[in-house]
Amino acid sequence: AKRITTAVIAEMKQSGEKITMLTGYDYSTARILDQAGIEMILVGDSAANVFAGYDTTLPITLDQMIYHASAVVRAVKRAMVIVDLPFGTYQGDPNKALESAIRVMKETGAQGIKVEGGVEIKDAVEKITQAGIPVVGHLGLTPQSINQFGNFGLRASNDGEAHVLHQNFAALIEAGCFAVVLEKIPAKVAQELTNHARIPTIGIGAGAYCDGQVLVVNDMLGLTENFKPKFLRQYLNLHNEITNAVRQYIMDVKNSSFPSEEEQY
Ligand code: KIV
Ligand code: NA
Repeated sequence: AKRITTAVIAEMKQSGEKITMLTGYDYSTARILDQAGIEMILVGDSAANVFAGYDTTLPITLDQMIYHASAVVRAVKRAMVIVDLPFGTYQGDPNKALESAIRVMKETGAQGIKVEGGVEIKDAVEKITQAGIPVVGHLGLTPQSINQFGNFGLRASNDGEAHVLHQNFAALIEAGCFAVVLEKIPAKVAQELTNHARIPTIGIGAGAYCDGQVLVVNDMLGLTENFKPKFLRQYLNLHNEITNAVRQYIMDVKNSSFPSEEEQY
């Protein structure tokens, strides 16, 4: 199958075909997502939460992101793989940001990177895109800023905040982003941004008007316990499925029905 590139993503925006993205952190899962036909896999810093068990995304390091991303890249033949630059590896100094992005590209073989923020990281985004690296932006509820927000609630819910969001969005387009993730903002605000932009918006908790959708794969498969925001559609309950399988295995070993005659040498 033909590789998904920035050109393919741009065409999808033009033709109105919705873009599908899921997160991925490991080889086995990424292989399934790719073979199922997902267009983009985000190696999200949400690995800090769903893989490593931290409360926030702040602790994950660039080396750890590179480890996850290289596993994903080895699994994927068609999807475009995008890697989050983690907290502290791009804010403040555009040169450092470029260095981080280059490390990801060289050491993982991914097709692009994602960064959180708007006007304040414009120079960094410009530097990275000018080096030939595709960049996805991320606005709205940006989890690396959780300590400033104070909670994981809806963003841009008043006119003032929506206005600032528009300015940040414009800055990212000017800086050369080829797509922007919009997280947890009103559908109407996401619709305005989407309709006025030539680059695609990819929403999570941002409504149906976005050009694409993204979910955290562990959440949509029902692996994550006690996380059910209303934007999340859970397609499976892997938590229950795996619990049942493990209980069955325990029973089978305890009562000596595993291994059977056919399962031994
Ligand atoms: O890290 C992540 O999973 C993300 C998505 C929620 C967009 O950034
Ligand atoms: Na992220």
